[in-house]
Amino acid sequence: MSIPIPFSPAPRLLLGPGPSDAHPNVLRAMMTPLLGHLDPQFLQLMNANQEMLRSVFLTKNLLTFPISATGSAGMETCLVNLLEPGDKVTICVKGFFGLRIVDMAQRLGAQVNVLEQTWGKVFDLNLIRESLQRERPKLLAIVQAETSTGAWQPIEELGQLCHEFDTLLMVDAVTALGCVPVRVDDWQIDAIYSCSQKGLGCPPGLAPVSFSPRAVEAMEKRRSKVPNWYLDLSLIRRYLTTDRMYHHTLPITMNYALHEGLRLILEEGLETRWERHQHNHRALKAGLQAMGLTYTAQEGHQLPQLNAVRIPDGVDDAAGRKMLLEEFGIEVGGGLGELKGKAWRIGLMGYNSRPAVVLLALAALEQVLTKLGAKVPPGAGVAAANQVYLA
Ligand SMILES: Cc1ncc(COP(=O)(O)O)c(C=O)c1O
Repeated sequence: MSIPIPFSPAPRLLLGPGPSDAHPNVLRAMMTPLLGHLDPQFLQLMNANQEMLRSVFLTKNLLTFPISATGSAGMETCLVNLLEPGDKVTICVKGFFGLRIVDMAQRLGAQVNVLEQTWGKVFDLNLIRESLQRERPKLLAIVQAETSTGAWQPIEELGQLCHEFDTLLMVDAVTALGCVPVRVDDWQIDAIYSCSQKGLGCPPGLAPVSFSPRAVEAMEKRRSKVPNWYLDLSLIRRYLTTDRMYHHTLPITMNYALHEGLRLILEEGLETRWERHQHNHRALKAGLQAMGLTYTAQEGHQLPQLNAVRIPDGVDDAAGRKMLLEEFGIEVGGGLGELKGKAWRIGLMGYNSRPAVVLLALAALEQVLTKLGAKVPPGAGVAAANQVYLA
């Protein structure tokens, strides 16, 4: 075997569904020399990460920390700790990631009831109420920001509704946290998970989670052992609390990154950050629509950080994304599941939600679409976005 030359990829602008570009300060923080995971300085950093995560999740939940793995492990952590074989769980499916929750819950031997909604639409509270009344599940699971369709599910009143039926509420905030409001305590969410590589402006590798006292009580009443050693919260909690029992070697550098990512969010302010995402979304949306593109998610429920649009008739999906990547260094996402080959997903997450990115993306898209045969009014996308910025 010949030894490869050092890896030095061409620069990219990551405008897909994630990972999104990490903030430059986060990348700098990752160059901090390693510490041992039981070093008092590292423990201090972990305490700060937990404290900052509580502020970003808007919760007082003690059991709030980053799982050492990606968003899917956050999903799995919630399910393996809260479900036992035979437990009833209702899963709201309106896209690809709802289906992933179903797959995981089925593997755990839970009694899974799937509540379905058309891809691109969101659930109405009345439909969920009827289902809860009928099924009385232990847990209801729902995705707040469905990355496959760009649909934004309202969560505000769901916790209270679930608790009327003695049901726990689990929320997937993988694409939501750091981009749109997530209010764990006000919305009475019992189990929530996210990821580091989207709204938090860090690389992939950590999955922040948080559990309410109600969820902790449910875990303590389990009849059986959690069937997954790595994600068993009864073991991880011993590392997180005072006795600092070794559980696994924490990814030191990723926690440095998270520390900086969270610090930057709190410095900016949550409300300001949510408004920034809205503002850049309004500009991008105006530009995309001026080029004749339509959103896959229903009007009024479109995520600012994930803009999923239908590919115009006659335009080749793979050719378009290849051209964006090779000629402009821009990565956008293709469609998932039902939307495979039919949609492009343009992410404006965390650090990437800014005017320079919006204007570049629109200009590049105009050229690519035109080369691939679509009729795009010249300059219309950038002009419409600038109208929003200059208003
Ligand atoms: C809504 C949602 N849930 C779960 C996941 C899984 O996260 P990960 O790919 O970090 O494991 C993703 C990934 O994009 C997602 O968008």
